[in-house]
Amino acid sequence: MRVDVITLFPELVEQVIGCGIVGRAAEQKLLELHCWNPREYTRDRHRTVDDRPYGGGPGMLMKVQPLQDAIHAVREQSRDARLVYLSPQGQLLTQEKLAQQVDLGSVIFLCGRYEGIDERLIQQEVDEEWSIGDYVISGGELAAMVCIDGMTRLIPGALGHDDSAQQDSFSQGLLDYPHYTRPEEYLGERVPGVLMNGNHREIEDWRERQSLGRTWQRRPELLEQVRLDTRQQALLDEFIAEHERTRKR
Ligand SMILES: C[S@@+](CC[C@H](N)C(=O)[O-])C[C@H]1O[C@@H](n2cnc3c(N)ncnc32)[C@H](O)[C@@H]1O
Repeated sequence: MRVDVITLFPELVEQVIGCGIVGRAAEQKLLELHCWNPREYTRDRHRTVDDRPYGGGPGMLMKVQPLQDAIHAVREQSRDARLVYLSPQGQLLTQEKLAQQVDLGSVIFLCGRYEGIDERLIQQEVDEEWSIGDYVISGGELAAMVCIDGMTRLIPGALGHDDSAQQDSFSQGLLDYPHYTRPEEYLGERVPGVLMNGNHREIEDWRERQSLGRTWQRRPELLEQVRLDTRQQALLDEFIAEHERTRKR
């Protein structure tokens, strides 16, 4: 999968392929990252990349011409890619959105800085706007890195176990179940016995019950989006009944 990033800080974005799963995916050529710096497309002596906003007020905007030239240069190499502007005003990023993008293939991320970019540039060049959450950070770079990391996990072959992304939170519309490793007892708390009895059917049921129960406890609105089958509904009912029992004790 090819990812192009237009950024004033390529050295920051490039770090995303420096280690871990994303680094391995890049080594295996499952992911190709190219950064484009608008500063390279400036035409003045000072290589200016910011400009004053019309109407006055605090802050600067990214200068239009270098940004536009950088976009056109990327488009020459990645014609059909969707151009996504990372913006706090964009659609909230979800696992589903990342998965759709992986299916679509190449993407160009445009990282804003300062107060952002000229509205007309957004209207003419940008296909979609994505937000990583309802808060404001100083630039789109960290948001682009979040997207790249999240997408890479969904590229077939990028994870050690092919099905581990399938079990992640949100993949099936639910939160993941709790995980345990050694030691068997930690600060007086024991690992749930079912995970050590070797009965795979029981372990699977327990995990699914926990996944459904956690979602019910922490993100009940997610449950409204999934259609539970009879078995899942029974597992959730068991979790709720157990929860009520321990609450009353
Ligand atoms: C300081 S912000 C500009 C915020 C803008 N003035 C506003 O209030 O909507 C600079 C850049 O950071 C990026 N950014 C900030 N918050 C973001 C978020 N939640 N998701 C994605 N990108 C974000 C965008 O690229 C934005 O152009």
